Amino acid sequence: MMLRTTVFLIIFGLSLTYCRGAYKDVLWLVDASSSVSADDHALTMGFIYNVTSYLTIGDNDIRMGVVKFDDEANALFELDDNNNKASLLSAINSISYTQSTVSSRKTMDALTYTRTLYLSIKGGRSDAGKVVIVIESGPSTNTPLTITKANDLRTSYGAEVFAIGIGSDLSKTNDELQGIANDPDSYYVEYIGGFINLCGIVPSILPKIDNETTATMLDGCDEWVEPTTAEITSTERMTEATISQTNEGLDIGAVVGILLSCLLILAILACVLYLLYKRKRRKDKKGPDKSEDDIVKAVNEYNDTSLGEKRHMYKRDTSSINITPTKTMSEKDTMFTVYENLGERSVTSSIIDVKIPI
Ligand SMILES: *[C@@H]1O[C@H](CO)[C@@H](O)[C@H](O)[C@H]1NC(C)=O
Ligand SMILES: *[C@@H]1O[C@H](CO)[C@@H](O)[C@H](O)[C@H]1NC(C)=O
Repeated sequence: MMLRTTVFLIIFGLSLTYCRGAYKDVLWLVDASSSVSADDHALTMGFIYNVTSYLTIGDNDIRMGVVKFDDEANALFELDDNNNKASLLSAINSISYTQSTVSSRKTMDALTYTRTLYLSIKGGRSDAGKVVIVIESGPSTNTPLTITKANDLRTSYGAEVFAIGIGSDLSKTNDELQGIANDPDSYYVEYIGGFINLCGIVPSILPKIDNETTATMLDGCDEWVEPTTAEITSTERMTEATISQTNEGLDIGAVVGILLSCLLILAILACVLYLLYKRKRRKDKKGPDKSEDDIVKAVNEYNDTSLGEKRHMYKRDTSSINITPTKTMSEKDTMFTVYENLGERSVTSSIIDVKIPI
């Protein structure tokens, strides 16, 4: 019986310890310079309110304070001002907006001021984890000093410093945001395009404050979607332009190439046709040429012979040939038949007959 009670108490105690929320002193440092509008303010407070609504608030859990800053920093409430969630939420809800006349942000001074809020007289607990969340919509007046002051918080308190950057004056890779934030930047830097997108980072920031708490994306939240084109550098843009230009060049080159190839093929075709034509012409010309040659040859052959007399010799093996004509010759007989009849004979022709091809 005793043993069972003891085991039960041990389990109960362990589960109590396990279920306890994070034991942390959390301070928000909120940009309140002149660029922050009433709507921006409402969205910022709504964001802090929503994050807080998921957390366990108490003297043995999370204590929270809120500081606003422009060129000077003021605590709206300190770590020990609210020791339960209802009171804290109400305090957040009642932070009113005042339009600042100061455009400069002295984030470094706000970080220095934060150190005083961690003192035990201000409700700081020396054994609690220290979390600082800086929200700014533009850079401070002194980035190196701001980074130095953030580093001081890390070395003095082992603080986890988060940087939430909002708007086009900043970026995910802004030196100041990365300098304010602990490493790795991918975990400690949040960058969004506008205050409207604060709602969308509630699920991301919440478990970083209390690792046993989660939130799903709220309905109607404008989650920040990083535009792919807005983030590319001018060099990348240049490269892209060059690539597209090169592609265009290649296209034109290809077209010109095809046209040139076509022209070349046409030229070759024309050459071949011309050569064929020329060859045919030469062949056609060769006929008359040849016949002219023949005439010249014939004339040369006969030029020292008086016209009408030319002696043609026809030689043949006559040993077996009968000299006696085999038949009566007539004037119709050709030279060949004469030859056939007479064997070797000298024939005198009276007419030179040269045939000229037409
Ligand atoms: C806070 O939560 C309410 C209710 O879920 C929601 O309508 C609102 O958009 C949230 N605002 C921010 C800034 O998170
Ligand atoms: C949360 O953090 C505590 C202390 O840093 C650690 O002991 C615990 O295991 C963590 N829980 C989860 C769910 O990561």
